[in-house]
This record gives sequence, structure tokens and C-alpha cells, in this order.
Amino acid sequence: MRSAGLILILVLHLGFSHGLLRVALRQYPSVRSRLRASAQLEEFLKQHQPDMFSRRYVQCFPPAQHFLRLGGRVTERLYNFMDAQFFGQISLGRPEQNFTVVFDTGSSDLWVPSSYCVSQACALHNKFKAFESSTYTHDGRVFGIHYGSGHLLGVMARDELKVGSVRVQNQVFGEAVYEPGFSFVLAQFDGVLGLGFPQLAEEKGSPVFDSMMEQNMLDQPVFSFYLTNNGSGFGGELVFGGMDESRFLPPINWIPVTQKGYWQIKLDAVKVQGALSFCYRSVQGCQAIVDTGTSLIGGPARDILILQQFIGATPTANGEFVVDCVRVSSLPVVSFLINSVEYSLSGEQYVRRETLNNKQICFSGFQSIEVPSPAGPVWILGDVFLSQVYSIYDRGENRVGLARLSGAPVESDTHI
Ligand SMILES: *[C@@H]1O[C@H](CO)[C@@H](O)[C@H](O)[C@H]1NC(C)=O
Ligand SMILES: *[C@@H]1O[C@H](CO)[C@@H](O)[C@H](O)[C@H]1NC(C)=O
Repeated sequence: MRSAGLILILVLHLGFSHGLLRVALRQYPSVRSRLRASAQLEEFLKQHQPDMFSRRYVQCFPPAQHFLRLGGRVTERLYNFMDAQFFGQISLGRPEQNFTVVFDTGSSDLWVPSSYCVSQACALHNKFKAFESSTYTHDGRVFGIHYGSGHLLGVMARDELKVGSVRVQNQVFGEAVYEPGFSFVLAQFDGVLGLGFPQLAEEKGSPVFDSMMEQNMLDQPVFSFYLTNNGSGFGGELVFGGMDESRFLPPINWIPVTQKGYWQIKLDAVKVQGALSFCYRSVQGCQAIVDTGTSLIGGPARDILILQQFIGATPTANGEFVVDCVRVSSLPVVSFLINSVEYSLSGEQYVRRETLNNKQICFSGFQSIEVPSPAGPVWILGDVFLSQVYSIYDRGENRVGLARLSGAPVESDTHI
């Protein structure tokens, strides 16, 4: 359980240097690892994620349906935030009310808990007090958002949003009045700020980045993520309005967005130790989503099960896949071929290490995520992938840029 003593310390270093708005991101243990540390994970998964069990026996069950109909609209969220680890700070209203949010390229809505929320999850988080804000406007519409591990309901509002030093006027957002599910109770973030395309938004009105563009706050209609997973608690930086050229080495591999909604691109092939293994059979390749709100690398269950076998990962009772830690340095390289550039991840890069009772456990960084058609099947390039590159999201040209990090030579470019 989160106690008052664990209130997040967030560093927000901000300001406009060369027209860039910088938001510091911090890395914290995920809900999953906190559940595991308190020996509650198994019970939680039984109660809240029955599809985890169907995934283990995927041949025996139809694919898990990660969506729900609400108000006639289909809301899909690729994955829950159980594994989310990278958070930053925003504030809403005047005077400012601070919230810690996941900056999520895999959704397009902004929501925070409402002061009227009585769910257990809300009790432990910062809640928006509309009555204390002089700039608040009531909207009255309701919204519902479904995530893999629960769904939340709320009412919509408009108010001033502050991100870094910038104030976005009249931003539409959701005030969650009902947040079921233990995953939000344990979450070290209050809400989510979606950075996907407006087509994906459940809340009608401009998503935050669209508001920033409309209100002429940015030099360029671009934002960029630098995510680092080096275990120090430092989590990286999100830049609005451009990119931080000191973080990466040119060239930038610009990949067209194939479908506006998610940041969706074409994945030409997945290789294991240099051998073509997935996605290469058709000229269309596969579709992939670049998703900062998903922690691992996701893919269709059938492919991921084979991939787990290739890396020698075995399932646990919880449906997670583990590898023997002594083998990590000798695991095969897994590469993603995107727009003629190969992004290679070594075992050290795709395995997640966690310490439990002084013992290290090594988890596979790959995970089955069945996204039903028409959106699926897709691969999901989550933080395990994104922490190896600098990623740029360009709404002007509708493209994603990937570049090699300047600090660490972790990605090998092989032109074919
Ligand atoms: C909100 O965060 C800012 C920046 O970290 C801080 O200066 C301010 O005191 C915080 N406000 C509240 C009400 O906690
Ligand atoms: C992690 O990254 C931060 C920022 O680049 C750096 O200050 C810190 O020394 C790094 N820690 C490790 C363990 O490499």
C-alpha cells in the first residue's frame, strides 16, 4: 500500500530552451513488481486478469478480448498500466493542483481522479477539486475508459493545464469518479496523459498535444521521448515542440504512420539471432504500435510463444515468462527491422531483472497481447524497446523518428 511517506518526489525541470518544453520523467517500480514484492501478485491476477490464464492455454481459448463497449463506442486500450514505470508531473486549475501522470502515446485522453471519487484507488491519490479552481468549467458528459486490468468512469471537465512552464487553456479532461481495481490502488501515478492521435480519444475535444498545437505553443508539431532504464530512478525526458539533439546521433530513421490513432507503423521483420522469424512472410510485414504506456514488447500470442521458446523462457504460474539469470548474457539477439534499419536487442536489453527476497528473477521482456481486428493483430513496441532509442513523434508529417542514443552504443543499424 502506498503511504503518505511514499509521496512521489518529482523533478520538473522546465522552461523554454530553444523553444523546447522539457518534462522530466522518473522511473518507479511498477504495480506488478510492488504486488510481487508483497506476495499479492498471484491473487491479484486470479481476481483481476483471468485472461492471463487463458493466455497460458492460448490454444484452448479464443483470444482475450481487451475491449469493452461503452456508450456505443468501442474503447480499446492495448494494455493496462500495471507495468508502467515512467511518470511525470502536470497541474490543473488555478491555483495549481499537481498530478503525477503516465505520458502515454498509446491513448489520447487525459484523466485524473476526481475529489468525488470514493473508490479505494482514489483515496490514495491526488484528486482534482473542481470547486477550488477558479478556471474550471463543468462539461457534464460522462466518459468511460477500459484498460486491460480494469475500467474507470468519470465526468468531463475543462480547465487550465500546466505542463512544464506552459499553460494550455481550456483543456478537456476526465475526472474519474470510479476507479475499480487494485492496479490503480497500487499505482504510483494519479492519472494518464494520452499523446495519441485525436481519432483514438474517448473524450470529445482536443487531446493535450492538439491543444498545444492549436494554441501555438510549439515551434514544431513534434514531441520526443528519451527513456532510460538504468535503475537509478532517473527515467528520462519528454520534450514538447521538437527534439533534444544532444540525446541522439543522426541519422533519424523517419517511419510513416500507417494509421492515425495509435502511433502505428510498419514492422518489416523480427529476427532472432539474425534469422528471419516473424512478420517477414508477407510484403505487408506486420503493423506495430510505438507505445510509451506499455512496458514490454508485445505481439500476437502465437508469435510470442514461439519467441519465448527461442530465448528459452518458461512460463510461471502467473503466466509470466522467466529465464535463468545466468543465461542472460548468452541469449540470442532479437532484432526489429523497421524501414530498412535493424534495431537489435541483446538479452541484457530485453530481460527485466527484479529482486525478490534477495533473489534475482529475470523476466522475458516479451509478452503476448492479443489486439482484436480491425486494430489488431499488431506488435507493441513498449519501453523495453523505446529505452534503447530516442523516439520522435511528428504530427506535422505523421511520422515516427527513431535514432540511436548518443550515450550508449546499444542499437546496431544494418542497412539491407
Ligand atoms: C506543484 O508542483 C510545483 C512544482 O513542483 C510546486 O512548486 C508546487 O508547490 C506544487 N503545488 C502544490 C499545491 O503542491
Ligand atoms: C543513470 O542515468 C543518469 C542520467 O543520465 C545518470 O546520472 C546515472 O549515473 C545513471 N546511473 C547508472 C547506474 O548508470
